[in-house]
Amino acid sequence: MKNYLVTGGCGFIGTNFIRSVMKKRLDWRIINLDALTYAGNYDNLKDLEGNRHRFRFVHGNICDDALLKRIFAEQELSGVVHFAAESHVDRSILGPEAFVTTNVVGTFKLLDVSLQFWKEGRLAPDFRFLQVSTDEVYGSLGSKGYFTETTRYDPSSPYSASKASSDHFVRAYQRTFGLPTVITNCSNNYGPYQFPEKLIPLMILNIFDEKPLPVYGEGRNVRDWLYVEDHCDALLAVLEKGTSGTTYNVGGGAEKQNIEIVHTLCDLMDRKLNRPPGGSRKLITFVPDRPGHDRRYAIDASKIERELGWSPRHKFEEALKSTVDWYLNRMDWIKSVQTGEYLKWIRVNYEDRDSEVCITGNGHPILTTENSFLAEEEE
Ligand code: NAD
Ligand code: DAU
Repeated sequence: MKNYLVTGGCGFIGTNFIRSVMKKRLDWRIINLDALTYAGNYDNLKDLEGNRHRFRFVHGNICDDALLKRIFAEQELSGVVHFAAESHVDRSILGPEAFVTTNVVGTFKLLDVSLQFWKEGRLAPDFRFLQVSTDEVYGSLGSKGYFTETTRYDPSSPYSASKASSDHFVRAYQRTFGLPTVITNCSNNYGPYQFPEKLIPLMILNIFDEKPLPVYGEGRNVRDWLYVEDHCDALLAVLEKGTSGTTYNVGGGAEKQNIEIVHTLCDLMDRKLNRPPGGSRKLITFVPDRPGHDRRYAIDASKIERELGWSPRHKFEEALKSTVDWYLNRMDWIKSVQTGEYLKWIRVNYEDRDSEVCITGNGHPILTTENSFLAEEEE
């Protein structure tokens, strides 16, 4: 069995990645370390808790290096797949500090503990630190051209500045200390389990509830949409076949203006919900633009296609339809997020406990001999 530490697995992409690995890599065991911020949803992976041979949840913070060392010491890791982050641009404008703490300091702590174990020969020989990063580090494009792996970093928001900074640390740990790392910079993901603060799920929920649809500026900003399942396949390809010390851009090849996306969702949902044609478009409300709003993102993904044989399998229109269906069929998930019920796990598990105690989903203190993978192998 190969052991992987996944950080931020209770978030949108992490959840999809872990679910995909559980199906596609039967010889992998996952330790999911997540702090369960507002963006982390314990229920997303609750059903995996029964599979104790292959999946462990550890509630904790990537900034806690003592905890990281305990996790690393427990088994020989073949990799760290690092998703954990503050990920929402608007929140980074309202309060940048958490972005520096988690995205910069947290990534540094993970790198530093990885390096310590690497130097001591306590990681698998094929170990990789995979930094899941964003195309936003490259700044904004004009109406032509694409981001390549050699495009100069030029971040606009506190979010993208924090991701750029963490990417620089990842490269520095490879170049200076020889830690095997790889970075992916991908475009806007969409699909199941995305927190409804991001454009697509926010619009789906507001259309459903017949609430205003806030479109920033004139809605002409362009994003390159990547279905999350395709992204997860790209991450597997990079982890298993990618060249250490390099970067891969991952894009969906589906450039759309925001207003096009909103129109498509309105029309699709009017049909699905048997509402009068054009009805939902009336909910569109143009609101003041996001400060520092990048105009256009578009990825040149030819390197990963050429070197690793990856390309997106999903067509935008079809994948968007199935995304809408997922949300409409998962009203339980939506209600739980809207009411705050999804935060229940923390309340239940921390009642009458020392709040510093870290616990697994199945209620045991972490990393005791009875719940480690090692202990299970010995049984
Ligand atoms: P998300 O906000 O949905 O999830 C983030 C997860 O990280 C949550 O489960 C949260 O609880 C956890 N987390 C936050 N701070 C933590 C900490 N200090 N310690 C441990 N866990 C912590 O994010 P996402 O959209 O799934 O993005 C995942 C990664 O992919 C991020 O690094 C993001 O920068 C990157 N990315 C996302 C997109 C996108 O379109 N969503 C695109 C490019 C890159
Ligand atoms: O490009 C990758 C990035 O994509 C990731 O690194 C980020 O983690 C992820 O959040 C996403 O960032 P964006 O800022 O592009 O995503 P968001 O969904 O917030 O916005 C998409 C576009 O839609 C953007 O141009 C702003 C606009 N928008 C967004 C919201 C939430 C609106 O017009 N109205 C809205 O209400």
